[in-house]
Amino acid sequence: MKINVVIVGHVDHGKSTLIGRLLYDSESINEGRVEEIQKLAEEYKRRFEFAYFLDSFDDELKEERTIDTTGVMFKSRKNLYSITDVPGHKEFIKNMLTGASHSDVAVLVVAANEGIQEQTGRHAFLVHMLGIKKLFVVINKMDIVDYSKKVFQDTRNKMSHLLASFGYHDVPFIPGSAMEGDNIYKPSQHMKWYNGTTLIDTLDNVSVERVVKPLRFVVQDTYSVDSEKVVVGRVESGTLHVGDEVIFQPSNVIAKVQKIVVYQHDLAEANRGDSIGIVVNKEVERGDVCGLPKLPPIAVTEFLGEAVLLDKKLQEGDEVELRCATRWVKCRIQRIREKINSETGEVIENNPAEISENEAALIEFSCEPVVVEKFSEIPELGRFVLVRNKNIGAGIVLETTSQK
Ligand code: GTP
Ligand code: MG
Repeated sequence: MKINVVIVGHVDHGKSTLIGRLLYDSESINEGRVEEIQKLAEEYKRRFEFAYFLDSFDDELKEERTIDTTGVMFKSRKNLYSITDVPGHKEFIKNMLTGASHSDVAVLVVAANEGIQEQTGRHAFLVHMLGIKKLFVVINKMDIVDYSKKVFQDTRNKMSHLLASFGYHDVPFIPGSAMEGDNIYKPSQHMKWYNGTTLIDTLDNVSVERVVKPLRFVVQDTYSVDSEKVVVGRVESGTLHVGDEVIFQPSNVIAKVQKIVVYQHDLAEANRGDSIGIVVNKEVERGDVCGLPKLPPIAVTEFLGEAVLLDKKLQEGDEVELRCATRWVKCRIQRIREKINSETGEVIENNPAEISENEAALIEFSCEPVVVEKFSEIPELGRFVLVRNKNIGAGIVLETTSQK
């Protein structure tokens, strides 16, 4: 089974090192790669560390920071994992929203010597907001605190309290050291007092249910080849077959799928995640979403969303641009229902007039027709970015008009 995992946590708490450890101990990294990274590291006169497996791009080495999300795959005894590393600092929250969106499980890394820091809470909040139901905590860098049971328990108690406010109860906590390899892939010899499972065994015990979703094909571009109308895009959910009659929204065009092509090859069907071209008998528009008439996509002009503001202020009545999948539309902040503390998840204020940087809010949006879906149902169409000259916020769709 394939499981998507996102690793989150405060800057420098050891996310990249932990992923490096998983890859190394599962023997997923070949010699060549280790050597290549070691060489790079030497050039910058840095000690060889696992973090370089991931933070191995030139600029990142100089900055000693992960600057973009990095996906890696590895196999355990049981599952195939796709792991996303997310940058720790707050200006990259937007990347995180993108990186985390396909995840089944989140692993929150907290350094034992520093405990809960600003982004620990904020990332837990974002993980909750993204609808990721399974969360594990690794209390990392246990080697620095002499593998102390007391430090582990104190941190766990504080963390449990914080996580409960986001609705995460009975979260597994794993004391580990990504650097020394304790309890990540192999059981630790240093913490006999811990009788729980290693991180990999905890992950291997996860069961993920995947429900069959309606077809949603997002149009990226359209063009004509020899009088054929080709529509290029990605299947974000469901399955598309040659011969299907499909409906495109918001343009409200019904068309027939004559061919599905990938690099000159014809396919009979396409599934979630496939980037394809389809030949149809009608003109459609970039930004449209196509589905089957039985469970069609619906273009809305109002929806309820939860957003985190990454920059400046947002007031009721403000007009911004909303980007969802490949569609960009004008939208208006109709009403701010609640202001939410993004570190604790608590409602700070009802009906506030405005929200500021780093605050989250429950917002009623009104917009030009756009296909959005509840995030919990079709995440790819349930996540949006707010733009005013640059990205100022990101959020998820909680309810659309038809569901209100
Ligand atoms: P960003 O990508 O910048 O958010 O950081 P990160 O969370 O990916 O941390 P990274 O893995 O780069 O580790 C930060 C520093 O902590 C590095 O110097 C690591 O070698 C060190 N480190 C990571 N894990 C451990 C650990 O278990 N024990 C000790 N002693 N050091 C660790
Ligand atoms: Mg990193």
